[in-house]
Amino acid sequence: MTKILVTGALGQIGTELAGELAARYGKSAVLISDVRKPASGDGGFEFASLDVTNAEAISQVLKEHGITDIFHMAAILSASGEKNPALAYRVNSDGTFNILEEARKAGINRVVIPSTIGVFGAETPRNHTPDITVLRPTTMYGITKVNAELLALYYRDKYGLDVRGLRFPGIISYLTPPSAGTTDYAVDIFYHAVQGKDYLCYLKKDTALPMMYMPDALHSLIQLFEASREKLRHCLEYNVSAYSFTPEEIYHAIRETYPEFRIAYEPDFRQKIAETWPASLDSHFAREDWGFKPMYDLKKTVDDMILNLRKILVHH
Ligand SMILES: NC(=O)c1ccc[n+]([C@@H]2O[C@H](COP(=O)([O-])OP(=O)(O)OC[C@H]3O[C@@H](n4cnc5c(N)ncnc54)[C@H](O)[C@@H]3O)[C@@H](O)[C@H]2O)c1
Repeated sequence: MTKILVTGALGQIGTELAGELAARYGKSAVLISDVRKPASGDGGFEFASLDVTNAEAISQVLKEHGITDIFHMAAILSASGEKNPALAYRVNSDGTFNILEEARKAGINRVVIPSTIGVFGAETPRNHTPDITVLRPTTMYGITKVNAELLALYYRDKYGLDVRGLRFPGIISYLTPPSAGTTDYAVDIFYHAVQGKDYLCYLKKDTALPMMYMPDALHSLIQLFEASREKLRHCLEYNVSAYSFTPEEIYHAIRETYPEFRIAYEPDFRQKIAETWPASLDSHFAREDWGFKPMYDLKKTVDDMILNLRKILVHH
């Protein structure tokens, strides 16, 4: 029987991933876990308190709950990582090592680990960035994520552990607010527009970054999880994205619904991070190997975000 552990399950992606997994495999097949306690209840999910920096605790949870597969979503993202690099190292590098090592020991079937466009750096080709390329990031987040990618390869090749992953771009969603990444502006800007507030953007108006909408992110995680192993030529190095845009472009797209909406720009330290990341990605390996195919273009994303945020923020 499949029993899936989701680490970092209270985060932006984990929250919605748990729902998708439950819809597909049944709620009792999913164990959600996080270092934090659920603030507004566990949504009917079985919940385990789990700090991924504690290998012994991971081992215990795997045994106690008869875990067969893992989605490892626990992480400290780029902007938080720059504020606390030591914590980012412990959670992202030690934590991922612990997950891989305990998964190997427990004979876990599949481990899914999302990577990020944060693995790239200023020397990486910025446009149509390929999967296999220069990885010289300058953020602690990026460094720990390159480490995670290489560890995953090591565990796959040395021990035959089935580890799969993809490199997410910025993820746009309305249910759980993003924690502190460099692409969060692409979510915040919607909250401001729908609430009738002006928006002060921390990136320059012409900074293009790759992005995708949450339903496509969730669908791609599950597609990758269910893909046949022989087809996977890569381990975590699958670039995925649906589109790229600049703050000015998303602003204009939102203004089609909110003509009064205003934006100003005041770049901070996140501008420097964004400048070392790709403007667009080559996703052809993901398409060919496991059928990656985003359903939401920019217009559909903007319309759906506004529709849902209106329900949450305005009609409450
Ligand atoms: N959201 C994005 O735009 C984005 C983009 C690229 C990659 N990713 C990757 O996707 C994954 C999930 O990201 P997210 O956006 O949901 O992040 P998030 O910050 O919203 O959630 C991460 C969760 O991990 C938990 N956590 C932190 N330290 C922990 C620890 N020691 N033990 C257990 N849990 C701990 C946090 O409490 C939080 O709930 C990460 O690997 C991230 O690198 C996200």
